[in-house]
Amino acid sequence: MYHDFNYEATLESSLRAQWQLDEVLRDDQSLDFTRNMMPESLARAALLDQLNPFEQRTLNQISAHQYLSIFGIVEEFILPFLLDHARPHLLGDDWRVRAILNFASEEAKHIHLFKRFHTAFVRDFPVECRVIGPSEDIGAEVLKHDPLAVGLVILMIEWMTQQHYLGSIRDDGDLDPLFKSLMRHHWMEEAQHAKLDTLIVDALAEGRSEAEIDKAIDEFFEIGAFLDAGLKQQAEFNLDALEKAIGRKLENRDEILDQQHQAARWTYIGSGMVHERFVASLKAMSPAAAGRMAEAAPMFA
Ligand SMILES: [Fe+2]
Ligand SMILES: [Fe+2]
Repeated sequence: MYHDFNYEATLESSLRAQWQLDEVLRDDQSLDFTRNMMPESLARAALLDQLNPFEQRTLNQISAHQYLSIFGIVEEFILPFLLDHARPHLLGDDWRVRAILNFASEEAKHIHLFKRFHTAFVRDFPVECRVIGPSEDIGAEVLKHDPLAVGLVILMIEWMTQQHYLGSIRDDGDLDPLFKSLMRHHWMEEAQHAKLDTLIVDALAEGRSEAEIDKAIDEFFEIGAFLDAGLKQQAEFNLDALEKAIGRKLENRDEILDQQHQAARWTYIGSGMVHERFVASLKAMSPAAAGRMAEAAPMFA
């Protein structure tokens, strides 16, 4: 076995690590717009020397708005996926039922938390930032695929949040403490989700032939391409908001668009795709699947 995760131990650590919304952000708290919010390893705004420091920070904050919105969207399809996966086995292993329902409940709490941050953001940010969607349509498109493909996308997302937290503690750029705390609290609970999703993916892959797994990987890439197109559209919206906020048109907008789209690819796809635990799940399922993933990964770096 390539891991020692089990439902009982994971539920126990989940219950120990749990936090309440008000510990992360109360309704009366405000974000600090004099600072960056996203780790620069993800936002990559400071690399754009066409922008002055104020403009770079504004773009970093727009990238934080994107983070709240994209996580809102993905958590909204994770929730029904978990409920669908739990329902056929409600009379089975008690630890499993409780662990998966607790996982679902934590994701519902995360949706709530991301919304709360979003409210605080739009309250104080000077211009409107558009978001792709509606999230129900994005969720419906993702969820129409093979559950193994969806499970793999979710597993990739769970592991990537571990990477994001590490980015936020390594960032020496004086990040807004509330945003840093968001990353830390999300990381704490997502660490357990990643273990549970590993078990879910193992169960969904069990008994499948190599050809069936290969087909699921095709669908994984279909979902990936769909999300990637959304990220590109979102990068356009982000630059619209940036131009409004800084009061000028960007001269080399296409160049900045490509760079920011690539930053989003790394944040929301690549950083999970290369995570060693995600790769380990793929290898255990099929070395050929792991090979296909490794081949695609540089596109999302
Ligand atoms: Fe979450
Ligand atoms: Fe999660």
